[in-house]
Amino acid sequence: MTFDRSLKIAPSILAADFAAFGAECEAVEAQGADWVHVDVMDGHFVPNISFGPATCAAIRPHIKGVMDVHLMIAPVDPYIDAFAAAGADILTAHVEAGPHIHRTLQAIRAAGCKGGVAINPGTPAEAVADLLDLTDLVCVMTVNPGFGGQKFIDMTDKIRKLRQMIGDRPVHIEIDGGVDPGTAPAVVKAGADVLVAGSAVFKGGSVQDPAPYGENIRAIRAAAEGTWT
Ligand code: DX5
Ligand code: ZN
Repeated sequence: MTFDRSLKIAPSILAADFAAFGAECEAVEAQGADWVHVDVMDGHFVPNISFGPATCAAIRPHIKGVMDVHLMIAPVDPYIDAFAAAGADILTAHVEAGPHIHRTLQAIRAAGCKGGVAINPGTPAEAVADLLDLTDLVCVMTVNPGFGGQKFIDMTDKIRKLRQMIGDRPVHIEIDGGVDPGTAPAVVKAGADVLVAGSAVFKGGSVQDPAPYGENIRAIRAAAEGTWT
């Protein structure tokens, strides 16, 4: 994976057909997805359960590009090797998930993945200040994690602050939750380069009729690029 700050749309398969993940990943990639965002939830760190490393390993062969795995689990460290073995390109852990996020990021890189750090809406940008040389991505949650289809929470000031803090470092700013053509422009203007979108990408389409995925991805991209600087 080479670093660049161009705009990337990362559909979240949390909004896909759970009985057809492989085909759904192939469909969104064919329709223009840049990365595939994979939401892992444990029913403990967040109030919902999705799936674990075995599912990630099963879908990996169906993703040509970047598999972006968002770990909404606590603890993280005992599972890093399993997700790395499942083929994750990026493993993102939450700062709120435990007392040793620094160690977690070291362990993710040691396992051969890019390391991401996610912050909930209630966590300030400063929480990642001492992690920026150890991370490849900061994920700013614009919903409280656990469910797809929630209402976007405005975090533009936090994104702007993070963009300044990151400076020239090769660190992505990813936005996750409630992203659609209406909310994308402001976050991109503030400095984000990766937009996760679940419902806004998968709505109206299916594996049998994937064209709406492409229309939805293009709509988000066009809205965001209008403000691209
Ligand atoms: C929220 C997840 C998100 C979510 C995004 O807990 O981390 O990735 O699936 O879904 P939408 O785009 O529907 O808010
Ligand atoms: Zn996510």
